[in-house]
Amino acid sequence: MEQLKGLILSGGKGTRLRPITYTSAKQLVPVANKPVLFYGIEAMAAAGVREVGIIIAPETGDEIRSLTGDGSRFGVQISYIEQDAPLGLAHAVLTAESFLASSPFVMYLGDNLLQGGITELVAEFREHEPEALILLTPVPDPENYGVAELDAQGAVARLVEKPKKPATDLALVGVYMFTPRIHDAARAIAPSGRGELEITDAIQWLVDETHRVESHVVRGWWKDTGRLDDMLEANRLILETVERRVDGELVDAQIHGRVIVEGGARLERSTVRGPAIIGAGAVLRDAYVGPYTAVGPGCVIEQAEVEHSILLEGSSVRGLQGRMESSLLGKNVTISRDQRQPRAYRFMVGDNSEIGIL
Ligand code: G1P
Repeated sequence: MEQLKGLILSGGKGTRLRPITYTSAKQLVPVANKPVLFYGIEAMAAAGVREVGIIIAPETGDEIRSLTGDGSRFGVQISYIEQDAPLGLAHAVLTAESFLASSPFVMYLGDNLLQGGITELVAEFREHEPEALILLTPVPDPENYGVAELDAQGAVARLVEKPKKPATDLALVGVYMFTPRIHDAARAIAPSGRGELEITDAIQWLVDETHRVESHVVRGWWKDTGRLDDMLEANRLILETVERRVDGELVDAQIHGRVIVEGGARLERSTVRGPAIIGAGAVLRDAYVGPYTAVGPGCVIEQAEVEHSILLEGSSVRGLQGRMESSLLGKNVTISRDQRQPRAYRFMVGDNSEIGIL
């Protein structure tokens, strides 16, 4: 089989993560202080993929391009491919056709995280040489995904995108392997009810045309980080895997368990209970940071307790009485208690924000 190329889809609007996604691409929201997208690129590099195309949207493409670069730091060569409008995953494949040419490829949705990477799957694809290899995993809410039905022999019988009455609980994971045959499929199908060319329908076309479509049920965890709860869960799962490393400065501070404190961070009279990560240049003063928290670079937490949360770069939390939990703060967000009169809540909050008060 020819050398496999990589295709990462990093377009889309990220509506389910607003307001964060008004100013940033959803694929750049950090999990354990690293953009979700980078995990996908690293998984490809580890599987021996050398040429990676990244599909970008006009609105967020520049940000993705400038943060991700030419791929040299990942050991891959990255090409950026602009998709004018979010017309579906199969449309993205067609948009990338000149990049992909006659190569087989692995396609990875840029907001997905897959434990254990893709190395084994790529090997399986090479060995069996089907026209498509799809990944499946049982989920409690299959109606939110593409859903697969297998026949008695375990072969893929039918795929339906977000069925109202799912026939099984096997969801399509956002990692797919294809031969160039998928281009014919993407051209043959019509837009779905949501007006998109669905990759699920394109794979169904392969099945209908009696091309071999294999499936593999993933054993480890998989997360589509499209919503807040999924983001927090992904953050928790990744932090579970970190090794303790303390490069920052501790002044009367205590650290328990698996905690990363990046260089230039300063912890004064504070306690951090891992797993957690404290980004470069962050300051913790008279603070408590609990398990499953990712504090971004340059953040400040002062006289406050934060747990099971993600704080993006430059945010600060000061003087809270209760503990902040299960929260996602965007860049440069400020949350503080102030003593001004009249005593009142004062907010300046973007559209679609959510605030819960004690
Ligand atoms: C897409 C696919 C769906 C798949 C899911 C995985 O859904 O259309 O089949 O199960 O990704 O994350 P979307 O996130 O575009 O709604």
